[in-house]
Amino acid sequence: MKPPEREEKGGGWDAARIRRALRSVTDPVSGQNIADNGCVREVIVPAPGQVTIELEPDKVREGDRESLRTATAKAVQSVGGISQVQVRYAGEPEETGLRLERSVPAAAPAHSRSHETGPRPMRPEGVRYILAVSSAKGGVGKSTVAVNLARALAQRGRRVGLLDADVYGPSVPTMIGKTGALADVGPSERIMPIDVHGIRVMSMGFIIPEGKAVAWRGPMVMNALVQMLSGVDWGELDYLLLDLPPGTGDVQLTLVQQASVDGAVIVSTPQEVALADVRRGVEFFARTQVPVLGVIENMSFLKDAATGLEVDLFGRGGARTEAGKLGVPFIGEVPFDVGLRKASDAGDQLTGAIGRIFGVLAELVEESAVAQNR
Ligand SMILES: Nc1ncnc2c1ncn2[C@@H]1O[C@H](COP(=O)(O)OP(=O)(O)O)[C@@H](O)[C@H]1O
Ligand SMILES: [Mg+2]
Repeated sequence: MKPPEREEKGGGWDAARIRRALRSVTDPVSGQNIADNGCVREVIVPAPGQVTIELEPDKVREGDRESLRTATAKAVQSVGGISQVQVRYAGEPEETGLRLERSVPAAAPAHSRSHETGPRPMRPEGVRYILAVSSAKGGVGKSTVAVNLARALAQRGRRVGLLDADVYGPSVPTMIGKTGALADVGPSERIMPIDVHGIRVMSMGFIIPEGKAVAWRGPMVMNALVQMLSGVDWGELDYLLLDLPPGTGDVQLTLVQQASVDGAVIVSTPQEVALADVRRGVEFFARTQVPVLGVIENMSFLKDAATGLEVDLFGRGGARTEAGKLGVPFIGEVPFDVGLRKASDAGDQLTGAIGRIFGVLAELVEESAVAQNR
């Protein structure tokens, strides 16, 4: 998919989907659709979810201009994930023209869950459990755990999706061996996740070139996340795992609430400083009324390859003790494992003992998810 340069402004796949929607609008004089007959001069996507369409006034009979403007705005608004559309004719001042706004994206059907009230605009249909993998800070192995839990769940025969919601530092593409891949738009006008060994994966890394999101402001990040949840064709899934951005701020709060997350896995390392983060995480999910499925202690210990001895690096067991104090389940320990790091960097599947560890963790996460949502 290679849209013209101007259309790349802010998101090529948005522009492509919009172009396709514009084919449903017919110019009454020529009888042709406006996307192909030159009426549409530009499709500008200044930020995800926001669109400005510039029409060519000379190509439209004067008496048709306003009706065509309305039809264009409506067609664009029907595209999933678009929250704001402006249609103007070339030469009109920037702030004029028809502007339609909506706070909730179109492709966001309600999903029923008995104890839930209020709107859940970002919940994709067809997903049974949305689980968040969270940590209060980066570098503790949240993405590593999310990716390998997804793999282990898939190995257990589950239908699994993985959303890399870490907009500023998407590392999932690397970990699954898909750097540089770009997501396409499917026949349903929705973004197709990238399929990796049966796991459906979506990441900011599949949408915009690496490093480009770093300068984004909060609302743009939120818009991108809305699209990655409700604008993606996730299909039928047993589990959609969210690799949340590190922290417990507004982005995490909005995401967790709007997607109506069914459970959270908190990843921590064993040190005392990291345990304060476990407390913060547990408080955060209590506030958002998301059940904590449990805590995973990552980089718990190191197994000496020569002797088989388990070496305590940072105070093994700290997260287990902390989980006990806070009254949340402890799921298990992941050792520091050189093979795990190499597999993560190379995008390889896990094998051997470390693979089996994730198999057990996945089983426990599943049990907890089912029990908490009964
Ligand atoms: N148990 C582990 N053993 C060895 N390396 C690990 C382990 N967990 C994570 N890593 C490595 O640590 C780095 C940070 O992990 P990552 O999952 O990206 O953290 P986060 O998503 O929390 O920022 C990565 O290079 C990853 O391969
Ligand atoms: Mg990460």
